[in-house]
Amino acid sequence: IDIKTLRSATNGIITIDPGFKNTGSCESAITFLDGEKGILRYRGYSIEELAEKADFLEVAYALIFGELPNAEELAKFHKDIKDESHVDEEMKKILDGFPKSAHPMGVLSSLTSALIAFNPSTVDVSSDEDMYHAIVRILAKFPVLVAWTLRKKKGLPLDYGDDSLGYVENIHKMMFKRPNQDYKKNKVVIEALDKLLILHADHEQNCSTSTVRIVGSSHAGLFASLSAGISALWGPLHGGANQAVLEMLEAIEADGGDTKKYMAKAKDKSDPFRLMGFGHRVYKNFDPRAKIIKVAADEVLADLGIEDPILEIAKGLEKEALEDPYFVDRKLYPNVDFYSGIIYRALGIPTEMFTVMFALGRLPGWIAQWREMRLNGEPIGRPRQVYTGENLRSFVELDKR
Ligand code: ACO
Repeated sequence: IDIKTLRSATNGIITIDPGFKNTGSCESAITFLDGEKGILRYRGYSIEELAEKADFLEVAYALIFGELPNAEELAKFHKDIKDESHVDEEMKKILDGFPKSAHPMGVLSSLTSALIAFNPSTVDVSSDEDMYHAIVRILAKFPVLVAWTLRKKKGLPLDYGDDSLGYVENIHKMMFKRPNQDYKKNKVVIEALDKLLILHADHEQNCSTSTVRIVGSSHAGLFASLSAGISALWGPLHGGANQAVLEMLEAIEADGGDTKKYMAKAKDKSDPFRLMGFGHRVYKNFDPRAKIIKVAADEVLADLGIEDPILEIAKGLEKEALEDPYFVDRKLYPNVDFYSGIIYRALGIPTEMFTVMFALGRLPGWIAQWREMRLNGEPIGRPRQVYTGENLRSFVELDKR
């Protein structure tokens, strides 16, 4: 039997769509995205309006449960989160085992997975109550893991949160409070952080979200699904791009700021270099998040009195790309990651932590998508393939090979 006959006998009709460029994996009521028009909406609310008017916790609630919370619902949600914000002390030993040089995304993914051992009741979510419990637990504990990951890198003592603060302010304090110093709230910093987290909160079926849904579809549990999502986000073609953008801008600055040289490299097909922070699988006009972040970068730097030469380099690259037929023809525009790193840097967040900040923002989106997948009773994710290997052949003994 030849391969062709075998294929038709066993596979029936299989669509091949590498990268799932045209394949819908599910029906979803969470995020609407129109890549041609540059529209992004969570639960029907425009990203522009949410970034301006909402805070991150309200957005998280809306993404996960479908509606913006009223004051009472929001207060209960926040209280439930605060009640779960401790992380077992034994987890510190796991963190201790990592070298300081470990990449924070690897550490975060491992810690998220390790958390299951200390919270086994989060795996079986057969009732609504179990599901709510698992969701609140991870929203409470994940920021502690993020803060610990950063503090370990900086050699600072590991701390817990402050229940008197808002969700995002508490995260900021856990990350940056120095021993023997009072923590002073900086409104500009907290608002910028809030906005960045909102802009990253969901983006329908991207690589990490699809990973979360597919791992969750085996009923592996929320934390295991999230840990896999964090690993998927780590890559430079996905969330890791924000770190790669800043490293690229710094390299251009160190090399004399010659943006034209790097534009030429990006266009040279024999050179693997890509202009990081440019291009998007879905947005073929502009990324609405990039527009908001670009304005925010200007505002935050001005408010903090920072003059950053790499902001000018970034603007220069954008201007050149918008006029360059290579980028115009391929519809390559700045994406969410192009300006976000400049703000993170202004907020004092180390470059290696940028993708962790992305994960922090994406957490409610991953949770919402996982919850939707479970509530819809979606079947286990199991794509097919078209086999292109050898036909049946006889085994060859070791001494005859
Ligand atoms: N610089 C230079 N050329 C590029 C770039 C870029 N950043 N992005 C795409 N291209 C070119 C490709 O070489 C290809 O050219 P060709 O048609 O002559 O072969 C064409 O544009 C299409 O690119 P693909 O890689 O096929 O597009 P795809 O949709 O598969 O990839 C992606 C999208 C991964 C975002 C890509 O644009 C890229 O690598 N960008 C840089 C990394 C980045 O910023 N990632 C963050 C994405 S946003 C997010 O995940 C949060």
